[in-house]
Amino acid sequence: MSFRVCDHALARHKLTTLRRVETDSPTFRRVIGELGLILAMEALRDLPEADRAIDTPLTAMQAPCLAAPVPCIVAVLRAGLGLTEGARLLLPEAPIGHVGLVRDEHTLQASRYLLRLPPDIAARGALVMDPMLATGGSAIQAVTALKEAGARDIRFACVVAAPEGVARFAAAHPDVPVVAAALDERLDERGYIVPGLGDAGDRCFGTA
Ligand code: PRP
Ligand code: URA
Repeated sequence: MSFRVCDHALARHKLTTLRRVETDSPTFRRVIGELGLILAMEALRDLPEADRAIDTPLTAMQAPCLAAPVPCIVAVLRAGLGLTEGARLLLPEAPIGHVGLVRDEHTLQASRYLLRLPPDIAARGALVMDPMLATGGSAIQAVTALKEAGARDIRFACVVAAPEGVARFAAAHPDVPVVAAALDERLDERGYIVPGLGDAGDRCFGTA
C-alpha cells in the first residue's frame, strides 16, 4: 500500500485551522470542505486519461480528458460528508456513495448502519473519504464494503492518520493508496488521535 502526506502549504494551513480548539463548527465545516478539495486533487492525480479530438478556436487537436466513467466519491458518515463537499466541486459528475459507520467508544469497534452505492459501482473507481484514520477499523470496513460491491481502483483520503491505523489499513488493503494531510504521533487511551483535531463528526456538525 502506498501512504503519502499531501505536500501543500494550503493543506497544512487549513489543517492547522481544523486542529485549533477555538475553531467553531461553521468554520470547521467550511474548511474541511476546502481541504477535501485539495486531498481529492492529490488522491486523483493519476486518474486514467484518454485523448479526444476537439476543436480550439484556432485548430483541431487531440486533448486529454478523464477516461469514462469517472470514479464514485464515497463519504464515510458522518464526518466524511464535510470532506466530500470539496471533492464534489472538483468532480461534479461523480456519483456519491455513503457508508454509515459508528465507532463504539468503549470497544473502538466500528459498526455499519448504512450502505448506499451507485448501481454501476463495479464499473468505476472510488475515492473513499473519512477525515480520521485512527485505529483503522472504520476505513478498513468501508473499503471492504466497496470491494464486496465490486469497486476497483479504490483510493482513500483522510485528514489525520495515526501510525497504528496506517499499519492496520496497509495490512488489510495493501492495494489501496492512502493520502492524508498529516501523519500524527499516536492514539490516546480512548482511541483519539494525538495531537489530532478531536471528534471530527461532532466538530463538523456542532454535536460536541
Ligand atoms: C470517526 C471518524 C472515523 C472513525 C475513525 O467516526 O470520522 O470514521 O471515527 O476511527 P477508527 O479509525 O478508529 O475506526 P465516528 O465513529 O466518531 O462517527 P461520526 O463520524 O458519526 O462521529
Ligand atoms: N475519530 C475522531 O473523530 N477523532 C479521532 O481522533 C479518532 C477517531
